[in-house]
Amino acid sequence: MNQHKATARAPANIAFIKYWGKTDSWTRVPANNSVSMCLSEFHTLCTVEISEQFAEDMVSFRGEAVVAGGELERITQVLARVRKLTGQSLFARVATRNNFPKATGIASSASGFAALSAAAVEVYGAKLNQRELSVFARQASGTACRSVPDGFVEWLSDDGAGESYAVSVHSPDWWNICDVVAIVTKKMKKVSSTEGHALAQTSPFYQARLLGMPAKVMALKQALAQKDFSHFGALLEAEALNMHAICLTSTPAVVYWEAPTMSMIRSIVEWRERGAVESYFTIDAGPTVHAICRAEDSGELAQRLAAIAGVREVVVNKPGLGVRLVDRHLF
Ligand code: PMV
Repeated sequence: MNQHKATARAPANIAFIKYWGKTDSWTRVPANNSVSMCLSEFHTLCTVEISEQFAEDMVSFRGEAVVAGGELERITQVLARVRKLTGQSLFARVATRNNFPKATGIASSASGFAALSAAAVEVYGAKLNQRELSVFARQASGTACRSVPDGFVEWLSDDGAGESYAVSVHSPDWWNICDVVAIVTKKMKKVSSTEGHALAQTSPFYQARLLGMPAKVMALKQALAQKDFSHFGALLEAEALNMHAICLTSTPAVVYWEAPTMSMIRSIVEWRERGAVESYFTIDAGPTVHAICRAEDSGELAQRLAAIAGVREVVVNKPGLGVRLVDRHLF
């Protein structure tokens, strides 16, 4: 009997410069470069098993079978792509488990599809290097490509040779900063980021956003290289507001924030201006706030955020590793 299993663990990542809008929606080529950090505490584990005894692909999420819908389709498309790459035909059983809530502004699709890609590539025996795995993961879910390399990462929209993937710009131990994540709601968001990306073009400000991107990416990478925290923070905060300005001015408008999101924005700025704690906010496609601070301030900041009405959970993340194969399988 031909039977194999592989398991991968992949981190979520937080974008300092956001990916918002694509030039090719099918292969998920982004309109601009983005810069992110892999998170130490939020990850997906994914086990893929192949066997000639399986009559179809089977998927379970947190132990529950996924029998239909867009999610199942996206996962089976990944499996079909590896089969095509390797000339194999065996069906697979996939189990996946996040240690954080889905679709709340923490990139579950990034960690989920990076882990699935790595496990599937391994079990079907496709020999991909890190760059090729990042390309492969990008085609499954854009931001998944940024969960492949370690630490601080840049996703190149085009590497000059027509390919798009993410590379590590610094290892996790480069800079001792934290992402203090304040989760607001565990409900699924109403507008998926896939829809949001497509709507970006309808904002009258979108072309202006894209024009400013190369200089912004360069400035942020420079602040990161120089470990200039205040400049880095100012840039990432302005960038988060810029992305949400696109969402707010799309047709139809997309409003990802909830009341506690706004309270946190106000508090973070006020604490900074009063000299209480220096942190800067960033927000992905959801109400969750990511407060970026120096490691020594993370405890104080976490306590303050946890005390804000509507905040359900606060988790301190350090810069983390990218995707890894692990020995412990989910089944
Ligand atoms: O990976 P997607 O399609 O869910 O895109 C999400 C993009 C943002 O999280 C909003 C920004 C980013 O670059 O992570």
